[in-house]
Amino acid sequence: MQVERYERYWMWAATGMLVLFTGAIVATALAGSVHPPSHVETVDPETLTVTGEFVSPGVMTAPDGRITVVMRAEFYVFRPTVVRIPAGRPVRFRITSPDVLHGFQIVGTNVNLTVAPGYVSEVTTTFDTPGEYLVVCNEYCGLAHHLMQGTVIVEAAP
Ligand code: CUA
Repeated sequence: MQVERYERYWMWAATGMLVLFTGAIVATALAGSVHPPSHVETVDPETLTVTGEFVSPGVMTAPDGRITVVMRAEFYVFRPTVVRIPAGRPVRFRITSPDVLHGFQIVGTNVNLTVAPGYVSEVTTTFDTPGEYLVVCNEYCGLAHHLMQGTVIVEAAP
């Protein structure tokens, strides 16, 4: 079978791009821990502000020392607005929304959750570098979307 020279070039170029893009997915998954979300857990958005763990969001430390940050993303604030956690220890974030779709992105890290009403989004991460991290909502949620932000303060271990 005779294949035109330019067609052959383009076939190799397309194959090269496939290899490159697949390699980029594998590389970011291995080096940057960038994975698709796998946590599915539902919650009733109409009652979560009157009953259950999301009534009083905040940082909880279990008797065995595990840290969980329970949060709500809602018009147009993260509750709690400021989260204080220690560096060098795994922290589990559990976050949901009582109203519309929001985002939860900790700038400068690979923490980036979609917060959908009816679902609990969860991620566990360890902050190695103490400091103040900006949290932004990266899903358009209404007129004051651009004002919706929070802070994660990572404190150096004593
Ligand atoms: Cu919340 Cu945008």
